[in-house]
Amino acid sequence: MNKGAPLDGGTPGRSLGEGQRGVSTGIPRVGAGECHVWFAEAVGAVRVPGLLELLDDRELARHDAFAREQDRALYLTAHALAREVVAEQLGMGPREVRFVLECRHCDRPEPHGKPGLAGSPLELSLSHSGSRVAVALSLAGPVGVDLEEIAAGDRAAELAPAVLSTAERAALERLPEAERAAGFTRYWARKEAVLKATGDGLMVEPARLTVSAPEEPAALLAWDDRKEPHLPVRLQDVDPGTGYRAAVAVLGAECTVVRHDAAYGGDGTLYRPRPQ
Ligand SMILES: CC(C)(COP(=O)(O)OP(=O)(O)OC[C@H]1O[C@@H](n2cnc3c(N)ncnc32)[C@H](O)[C@@H]1OP(=O)(O)O)[C@@H](O)C(=O)NCCC(=O)NCCS
Repeated sequence: MNKGAPLDGGTPGRSLGEGQRGVSTGIPRVGAGECHVWFAEAVGAVRVPGLLELLDDRELARHDAFAREQDRALYLTAHALAREVVAEQLGMGPREVRFVLECRHCDRPEPHGKPGLAGSPLELSLSHSGSRVAVALSLAGPVGVDLEEIAAGDRAAELAPAVLSTAERAALERLPEAERAAGFTRYWARKEAVLKATGDGLMVEPARLTVSAPEEPAALLAWDDRKEPHLPVRLQDVDPGTGYRAAVAVLGAECTVVRHDAAYGGDGTLYRPRPQ
């Protein structure tokens, strides 16, 4: 692997395996009260074989179990990117990062559920959809990120009853027809971001949550029958690129969201494209 120059707006970044304490990678550090969200196009092991070296045995087994090449690429890119950006924060190599998974709904023995980092205040969340991935890191509180490719119109109409509350369905109906699929996807990303931040995932029906209308600033407005005490939910839309919608939710204090793009070169070097 080539050793790249520090990441700096379009210059090559480090290559795989670097990131030990003292090596400058150019990956920005997450500050107190910040949440950083990274987006990247998925690359598969055929194009970037070295990325597989970053995964642990459990991740490799999950990667290999996907039947579709595109699903393998999404999983590989999300987990490699998560390892690289987390490693920079913790001052270690990407292979040394230890993810823990926590499910608050069942005792199934195999690890599953919300990903975290043992013994660190850093919180993380992953998402993949279409051909893109998102990784969120937070020092402001538990985080959930959701990235969704804009649904086809008929799929959005089919899913709406299970995903949207009555008030949201009425608001969606009021949008011009051409805007409804994107509007539905905006709702869906906002709700799933909240449910990933809490760790509930889809064990809680998204229709129990009411979020603000797609054209309004993101906010969680209501959550039917939510029993236990809970932290305030800070919800924001993040721009994931054309054809997608994304949102990030952080539980707790106000937080500043910082957005980044990443791209992998064929040699496994991580690049950060220049801002447009
Ligand atoms: C987690 C969930 C919300 C993901 O939704 P999705 O739109 O299909 O997928 P996304 O790409 O946005 O997110 C997937 C990521 O969410 C994370 N995740 C999984 N469970 C999670 C949870 N309970 N809370 C937060 N994040 C979770 C994982 O990192 C996963 O990435 P990975 O598969 O690469 O490891 C949804 O699949 C779910 O709720 N699954 C669990 C339901 C279930 O089967 N429960 C039974 C066992 S308790």
